[in-house]
Amino acid sequence: MSSDKAVTLRINGHDETATVPSHRTLLEALRGLGHVDVKCGCEKGDCGACAVLIDGEAVDSCLTLAHSAAGREITTLQGLGTPENLHPLQLSFSELGAAQCGYCTPGMIIASESLLRKNPSPSEDELRHALSGNPCRCTGYVKIFEAVNAAAEVMRNSGDPK
Ligand code: FES
Ligand code: FES
Repeated sequence: MSSDKAVTLRINGHDETATVPSHRTLLEALRGLGHVDVKCGCEKGDCGACAVLIDGEAVDSCLTLAHSAAGREITTLQGLGTPENLHPLQLSFSELGAAQCGYCTPGMIIASESLLRKNPSPSEDELRHALSGNPCRCTGYVKIFEAVNAAAEVMRNSGDPK
């Protein structure tokens, strides 16, 4: 007998229904719905690749049950901007070479967005701390920090904390 139950998830401004058992993670549900911009890494909260915003806060979707996210506002990397209108973080990561293999990038940008919503002018220590749960095997972090700082400046100057 299947224990699947339908849950409506608000993802990037649209309602989508996943039919999943109560133990299914939000990461599995999102990827099952086609949101493969949410990356699957360690599945135990160590790598941050699966990060999404829930009500504006970065969370590891591998540690969140899909059913517990019902009624909350879920934002993935693709919900931040469009190819025609990139979010400043997406643009700066691209322009400043802050992504190499790119596997960490969605989680890195989500964690950065969560930080900048709370703290538009983070110090280097605050930035390092905010991204400490998002290891990157490629870039050496210098480009990533440059990209976040560049985007933060654009966001401050635009007066739009988003
Ligand atoms: S896949 Fe979720 S923290 Fe690694
Ligand atoms: S760009 Fe490859 S892991 Fe970060």
